[in-house]
Amino acid sequence: MNRVLTGIQSSGTPHLGNVLGAMFPAIELSKKHESFLFIADLHALTTVKNKTLLFKNTLETAAAWMACGLDTTKNILYRQSDIPQVTELMWYLNCITPFPMLANAHSFKDKSAKLSDVNAGLFTYPVLMAADIILYNANIVPVGKDQVQHLEITRDIANKFNNTYGETFIIPDAKLKKDNMTIAGTDGQKMSKSYGNTIDIFGSESELKKQIMGIITDSKDLEEPKNPDECNVFQIYKLIASEEQIADLKLKYIKGGYGYGHAKNELYHLLLNHFKSPREKFNQLINNPKTIERELKRGAEQANKVANDVLKKVKYNLGLM
Ligand code: TRP
Repeated sequence: MNRVLTGIQSSGTPHLGNVLGAMFPAIELSKKHESFLFIADLHALTTVKNKTLLFKNTLETAAAWMACGLDTTKNILYRQSDIPQVTELMWYLNCITPFPMLANAHSFKDKSAKLSDVNAGLFTYPVLMAADIILYNANIVPVGKDQVQHLEITRDIANKFNNTYGETFIIPDAKLKKDNMTIAGTDGQKMSKSYGNTIDIFGSESELKKQIMGIITDSKDLEEPKNPDECNVFQIYKLIASEEQIADLKLKYIKGGYGYGHAKNELYHLLLNHFKSPREKFNQLINNPKTIERELKRGAEQANKVANDVLKKVKYNLGLM
């Protein structure tokens, strides 16, 4: 039996990169396989230090999953921290995880170079992620390219545990998005809250417009022909537009007499149109937080059962009971 699992950190309101890179692909898979989808609020604690904000982000992340079409009656949507067994498992895994493996992780090196608060949670982040996955016997984990190394670390840790203590965990596989692409943000780097380059697809129209108008382009003037493949606006546009729309816009770039402002405007309308229904649903849910809490509670009850079974086996194999 295949079991899909993926998590999204509640370090902000889910943005276009989260939605296209993680939520839509996972929701597609959830139509075929039983799926565990969670809000990684414990991971968010590595960077979010404001309780009101963390709580709000968590509800918004849950609302985004639901607004994007996740069927919570057939799948399991839960808050990571509602299943504290994951932190217990993390300790067991910490004790077999080689220090250099974590020290060499790209994302840790990257974050520790960029952030002023380099805490131990950032360092052991991949171990918590491994616990997230193997606590639920998940074997398919849809992730973006930037998380592939974390999946390799998960596989290494799970294998090491199995070799040391006997067959305990299922070894998961990463499932990369079809085009294996990271979604670029307004500055062309990977779209990420921590880079401040997101397109907040669930934000107000004026915020959305402001972010789109802020996409960085070169300084070619209106008349000049432009290269769509070098333009951040076009890179985002082509993630959503139809083949025909893409070909159309490409032509306008190449012909000249078409400015980046025009392209931004076109992108803005495309996004509003494409996300009309998720945006409406999201707002309805946010105005009814009880509905969200009810779904999360139901998800937690189901996740709890699986977690207890797996943890029991782990403790037995470790010699703790
Ligand atoms: N680290 C992931 C990210 O930032 C989020 C995450 C946490 C995750 N735990 C997970 C993803 C388990 C997949 C499986 O995108």
